[in-house]
Amino acid sequence: MLALKEAIANGATGELVYLKDYKIEECDGCMNCVFRNIPCHLDDDWYKLLNKISSADALFLSAPTYVLSIPGSLKLVMDRYLLMPQYFNKIYPRPAMSVGIGGLADWNHFELPLMNLFLLGLGFGIVDSFYARAAGPGEVLLSNEGIERIKSEVKFMLSWKYKPFESRIASHCPVCFSTIFERIKGNKYKCPVCAVESEQQEDGYYFLADNLNNHRWTPDNVEDHFTNWILKTKDRFKKNLRQINQQKRKFEL
Ligand SMILES: Cc1cc2nc3c(=O)[nH]c(=O)nc-3n(C[C@H](O)[C@H](O)[C@H](O)COP(=O)(O)O)c2cc1C
Repeated sequence: MLALKEAIANGATGELVYLKDYKIEECDGCMNCVFRNIPCHLDDDWYKLLNKISSADALFLSAPTYVLSIPGSLKLVMDRYLLMPQYFNKIYPRPAMSVGIGGLADWNHFELPLMNLFLLGLGFGIVDSFYARAAGPGEVLLSNEGIERIKSEVKFMLSWKYKPFESRIASHCPVCFSTIFERIKGNKYKCPVCAVESEQQEDGYYFLADNLNNHRWTPDNVEDHFTNWILKTKDRFKKNLRQINQQKRKFEL
């Protein structure tokens, strides 16, 4: 709400969208949206929600931290990922920002990367992403520091123009803000969310521009994943279907 007020004060128009106002069903993994290229059969508000948020010029996403991670309501939206490419902005990323709210400094490592995964999956670029500390409902409103940061970040987001990543040292992934890295070999690490490789140095992780600009969620890589992986599983699955059903019957109680 604060971000929206600030955006309006800066001349933007906008709307506050609460996930709780949308009925979102669980993906049942039928694969028909991809394999048969038909609309999702679930009777809910998913398309209505995505039509709204994907058409925004800028998005400010906020969510509480639940058990180190995002709340289930956001995960339910994200689990319909196979439907998301139709909303993916293929030109230049539009700006988005995420603020995770949580009580404890060391209890939130999956929150921002997963919020940002959702934004990246829609083709947004993450301008900034941070935590505001607050243990109880609404307590975040007592944090002057948090409020001031949101105000200045909203101004920054509204004037943001896309430019490719430059090589840099950072303690988080510059694409999704994850601080969790998978060790590949020696001093080489990889961001599990963006698949961006980096080299550990004394003062942080060194990210090469080429790697940053070729992260998992670029339009080309998203298309490649759908065309050369997800769609290619269709024929194998169809070929194996009889055998899968036989096995199912065998293990039925
Ligand atoms: C079920 C539950 C789990 C929570 N887990 C965490 C947690 O893992 N880490 C954390 O920092 N805060 C945790 N919290 C605190 C919430 O993040 C905090 O109450 C909430 O973000 C306040 O946001 P609000 O002002 O939007 O209601 C949890 C709260 C609830 C209700």
